[in-house]
Amino acid sequence: MAPPKVVLSLSAILFFFLSSAHAVEVSHDGRAITIDGKRRVLLSGSIHYPRSTAEMWPDLIKKAKEGGLDAIETYVFWDVHEPARRQYDFNGNLDLIRFLKTVQDAGLYAVLRIGPYVCAEWTYGGFPVWLHNLPGVKLRTANDVFMNEMKNFTTLIVNMAKQESLFASQGGPIILAQIENEYGNVMSAYGDAGKAYIDWCANMAVSQDIGVPWIMCQQSDAPQPMINTCNGWYCDQFTPNNPDSPKMWTENWTGWFKSWGGVDPHRTAEDLAFSVARFFQTGGTFQNYYMYHGGTNFGRTAGGPYITTSYDYDAPLDEYGNLNQPKWGHLKELHDMLHSVEGTLTTGNITNVDLGNSVYATVYATPGQSTCFLGNTNSTSDATFVFQGKQFTVPAWSVSILPDCQNEGYNTAKVNVQSSVMVMEPNEAESEPESLSWTWRPEIADDQVTLGKGRVAAHRLVDQKDAANGASDYLWYMTSVNLKDDDPVWSDNMTLRVNCTGQILHAYVNGNYLGSQWALYGNFHYVFEKNVKLNPGKNLISLLSVTIGLQNYGPMFDLVQNGVPGPVEIEGRKGDERVIKDLSGHLWSYKVGLHGINHKFFSIDPALDSASASKWQSKDLPTNRSLSWYKTTFKAPLGTDPVVVDLQGLGKGEAWVNGKSIGRYWPSYEASLDGCSTDPCDYRGAYDNTKCVTNCGRPTQRWYHVPRSFMEEDVNTLVLFEEFGGNPSLVNFQTVTVGSACANAHEKKTLKLACQGRPISAVKFASFGDPQGSCGSFAKGSCEGSNDAVAILQNACVGKESCSIDVSEKTFGSTTCGSTKRLAVEVTC
Ligand code: GAL
Repeated sequence: MAPPKVVLSLSAILFFFLSSAHAVEVSHDGRAITIDGKRRVLLSGSIHYPRSTAEMWPDLIKKAKEGGLDAIETYVFWDVHEPARRQYDFNGNLDLIRFLKTVQDAGLYAVLRIGPYVCAEWTYGGFPVWLHNLPGVKLRTANDVFMNEMKNFTTLIVNMAKQESLFASQGGPIILAQIENEYGNVMSAYGDAGKAYIDWCANMAVSQDIGVPWIMCQQSDAPQPMINTCNGWYCDQFTPNNPDSPKMWTENWTGWFKSWGGVDPHRTAEDLAFSVARFFQTGGTFQNYYMYHGGTNFGRTAGGPYITTSYDYDAPLDEYGNLNQPKWGHLKELHDMLHSVEGTLTTGNITNVDLGNSVYATVYATPGQSTCFLGNTNSTSDATFVFQGKQFTVPAWSVSILPDCQNEGYNTAKVNVQSSVMVMEPNEAESEPESLSWTWRPEIADDQVTLGKGRVAAHRLVDQKDAANGASDYLWYMTSVNLKDDDPVWSDNMTLRVNCTGQILHAYVNGNYLGSQWALYGNFHYVFEKNVKLNPGKNLISLLSVTIGLQNYGPMFDLVQNGVPGPVEIEGRKGDERVIKDLSGHLWSYKVGLHGINHKFFSIDPALDSASASKWQSKDLPTNRSLSWYKTTFKAPLGTDPVVVDLQGLGKGEAWVNGKSIGRYWPSYEASLDGCSTDPCDYRGAYDNTKCVTNCGRPTQRWYHVPRSFMEEDVNTLVLFEEFGGNPSLVNFQTVTVGSACANAHEKKTLKLACQGRPISAVKFASFGDPQGSCGSFAKGSCEGSNDAVAILQNACVGKESCSIDVSEKTFGSTTCGSTKRLAVEVTC
């Protein structure tokens, strides 16, 4: 038997191993981030924890790891964690620590962008609105009130992470942290105070003593030891401001966000891969995808104004967590390639050769191995040239990576993975009736519409942020005007005019609805103007102002006005004579929020429901009635595929499933007619978010994500608050899955096909040679392999969840084609 002494020392070793042996030293030199002294190629992706659910995190992170990432990046969202000053919430999908531990459990690193200003298309850039209402505060500048709050929150987050040993210096996953966000883009607007503030940010961050490097993005004067990093669609031209800072890219925008009234942005896999490969060709060693999974803006978290509930971003994982193919797979192959040459990239001697016509070669040479990049930045011409005695062809706007400087291992323009066509399928839950049956009840607004009753009053028009303090999208502005028929404004032809900043206004006069108006995306100042019939004597004017996400970006974005800044006027016209009566300085009464929201009409809490159950009626279900509440029950679709609710027919409002808000909806807002093209999207040339757009003229967002974890197996409740008026009869639940998969893979590659866990059911097309067309319209070319490609695919794939095919003459038989052969395939899932 071992003497007790040995047992003790073994457990001591074990303790040491578990607690500190994993601690790693994260540092950097001018070339790369180093982990335990070793320079690393680091590929990271943004997944914002509140934009999915805790139940989704493991799968998202697993897919990120399989996609070849080393790290997951997230911002920290101050407003949701500290909704009221010094009252905190880290529950459910706000459980930052659980998220970081999930990243750690998957064996990935984490990058923690604390901000706490984050931008991120998140309401108010992540600032709690109460911050704006603190006496004496000025946000994002050298202001003691603000800096005190910012330090308090930053310290809270750092201490929470420290307590759980989550920094790499403690054995945890966090290898980098960020303070502020893109302040350099707006700093000049803050003058000297801006510079003082950014210095303070750096000092405050350093004083947190986290044991890993701090970064500042888009901050070309970042004080040492902050590492300044680049954000954008391309960052190959970026140089950090210190020779000891590595070239880092914190936001490679994988697509773009969507706005109400805007089209769907798409960035091609080829262009995204090109940007990454150019970055590594030009000395970059850390790169983060913004977003890797965009997800959903649940509740009222969407920023803006006018950011949609979907934050899909055309990211490698779609809003629901499905692989967005071919983007996910094409990048995975790039990541595998970059990791395989980590040693040469981070330690090799670098030689650049300008081969003319925008073609550049870069050699990374170590004594044992050389890796070459051949980059063709010409947006139209393919390039054929001789390099180191060998002939190469590099397609326009692409980079070839030659891991051994001899053979092309990867080219950013040659996509050899499947593209998946996603489809929405009907809810096949047993005994689910064809259409849902609804009850309804009106929003109770009589006090406002007919009595003008509020909670507070002032002789001025107030900003919606000041009045609502972030508690609601809705604010009633109510006043009365006494008119005698000898009043100068009195005429048969009177107009009510309201100058608004955002974003929707519904107007009522003397208890009657007068009209509504809303801003167009991009121009949030608008004027509501409508002819009005007023009475001699007292007239009541009730204005319901609605915000749709608060401004999240720009110099002094926090001061952008919301609601009705005025003037509010009545104009009377007699012939050419115009008389204006300004009501702005009248006594205005204010009421924050809606009755139904304040009284939780959306709740399924039996205590609340028993009181209100009788008020939901099935009789006389109205359509196109504004300010109405609708309620139904439904069964969760079978299986595990992600679920969406199709809200076609509805106007605008908010939706709740089992009491949880799935976000704002606005399917009646059609996307712009401009910008879409029937031509296939050309990946060549610099990308911006106006390129390759889709969905012109259709509802900006028709489908809304209902996370599986929001639903029960049996009965579920959907509640809609309809603001404009709509018809719920077409509302239905669907699942999102792969309908078919296509590929156009190059010879010598192995093609993998999969239908997201379902068997492949049929082969619609297969040809090895020089096939033409694209997914959905493939056609045979002028030459083909001698074997029956369809039969080969059928044998290998049909009935299987996935299959692998060698794209070669060996598999498909010899051809009479020239040098490059491809296999085009379309399979049905
Ligand atoms: C950046 C910002 C991100 C996000 C992005 C656009 O400027 O840092 O938070 O807003 O733009 O999606």
